[in-house]
Amino acid sequence: MRILFVCLGNICRSPAAEGVFLHLLNQRGLQDHFVVDSAGTGSWHVGNPADRRMQAAAKRRGIHLPSRARQIELKDLEEFDLVLTMDNENFGAVKGLAREAGVRATAEIRPMLSYSQRSSETEVPDPYYGGEAGFDHVLDLLEEACGALLDELSEHDQATNGQL
Ligand code: 4NP
Repeated sequence: MRILFVCLGNICRSPAAEGVFLHLLNQRGLQDHFVVDSAGTGSWHVGNPADRRMQAAAKRRGIHLPSRARQIELKDLEEFDLVLTMDNENFGAVKGLAREAGVRATAEIRPMLSYSQRSSETEVPDPYYGGEAGFDHVLDLLEEACGALLDELSEHDQATNGQL
């Protein structure tokens, strides 16, 4: 199963989602069943590690963020099974890319928080211009939604006897 997390800059939210999901996979011993990556719809930060504030907030929870920023490409929509977007703007941008790619775009595209069972929020807010609390809030949202995502994938896998 190949999962790509997408935000705008690929230095805050989607690297955090990638790190949180990888952390859960390690905890559950499922890392060999997944390819996990993240990308941004914009190109400003290509090559950069995750924002220091995001890395620090994740580290306080024991979560490592391995990402280097890259921009999403058309072929990602052919190569990944699931593309999870952080906000409505990212969702629109990725859907636009999928329209360009036509039938080759086989990935399922969904908002990350569509998996959340607790949050009334539908978008992961951009923490870039805010204070420290914003980064913790992003991690709270992502830990819950990533847990629900992995539960759903695991249940589906058990039901179909598949290999995820
Ligand atoms: P991200 O946050 O989309 O969660 O990585 C942002 C980081 C940088 C910028 C915007 C959003 N920026 O405009 O530079």
